[in-house]
Amino acid sequence: MSAELVVDARAELGEGPVWDDRRERLLWVDILAGHVHTTDPATGADEVLEVGSEVGTIALRAGEGLVLALRDGFALLEPDGELRTVAEVEADKPGNRFNDGACDRAGRLWAGTMAFDETPGAGALYRLDPDLSVTKILDEVTISNGIGWSPDDRSMYYVDSPMMGIDVFDYDLAAGTPTNRRRLANTPPELGVPDGLTMDAEGCLWVAFYGGGCVHRYTPDGRLDRELPVPASNVTKPAFGGATHSELFVTTAAKGLSDDQRAAEPSAGGLFRLRPGVAGRPADRFAA
Ligand code: BGC
Ligand code: CA
Repeated sequence: MSAELVVDARAELGEGPVWDDRRERLLWVDILAGHVHTTDPATGADEVLEVGSEVGTIALRAGEGLVLALRDGFALLEPDGELRTVAEVEADKPGNRFNDGACDRAGRLWAGTMAFDETPGAGALYRLDPDLSVTKILDEVTISNGIGWSPDDRSMYYVDSPMMGIDVFDYDLAAGTPTNRRRLANTPPELGVPDGLTMDAEGCLWVAFYGGGCVHRYTPDGRLDRELPVPASNVTKPAFGGATHSELFVTTAAKGLSDDQRAAEPSAGGLFRLRPGVAGRPADRFAA
């Protein structure tokens, strides 16, 4: 089964795919360009919105519009196009930006930061609640990346890329607190670093490998179950979408590739689609 190129976007750092099941569109970002893409996978049509700063995470809202984790904090994009900052985060740290994130089933947005130069321990993981208050959950994160929850909401999975593995916490959905961090699976060094992740309806994790040109499926007990190749080495994050949530969209990046590598990987930075034979579930939305 081969990956199909949906948008030849040549994004520097494609990231953050999320399926909008109301509009049947795939939303995703180019973090460094500050672009939010809206793709119709049926036609390949792709619209770009410039948000004026790096954008690490986007998430759907219960109503219309989006919530975004921008360079210096969280913002809401209103249906009329107004973009307003609702909480400054690390605005005093110009060397940092937001990176990956996702909503939990209670409608909170989780997103983490990193230093542009990947300084070890310079980032953190934050939780934005529907009342727009922000709580720092983890400190000393290097490249805050994939996050997801088990179908019963009792486990939270998390990737800090240079730590070379997937961690799991016990999760209290009512309180929004993860505890008891431990290693779920180590990832193979020859595949670069683990990046974004998404969950399927069976509770398995799909993890992108930045530098590894693939996504891997892990069972909830940490066993490697399947490996799917992607024709770009820097794979950043998967997301299920399509009418039955059975298409797996994957973002990729050209960042860090040499001129020779760019020539050898002309579709780096593109949006790809796989058909893995399992389905995801609708993306959780920010409850404000
Ligand atoms: C970050 C990149 C980083 C990559 C691998 C991505 O989520 O945005 O800057 O190179 O992860 O760690
Ligand atoms: Ca990521």
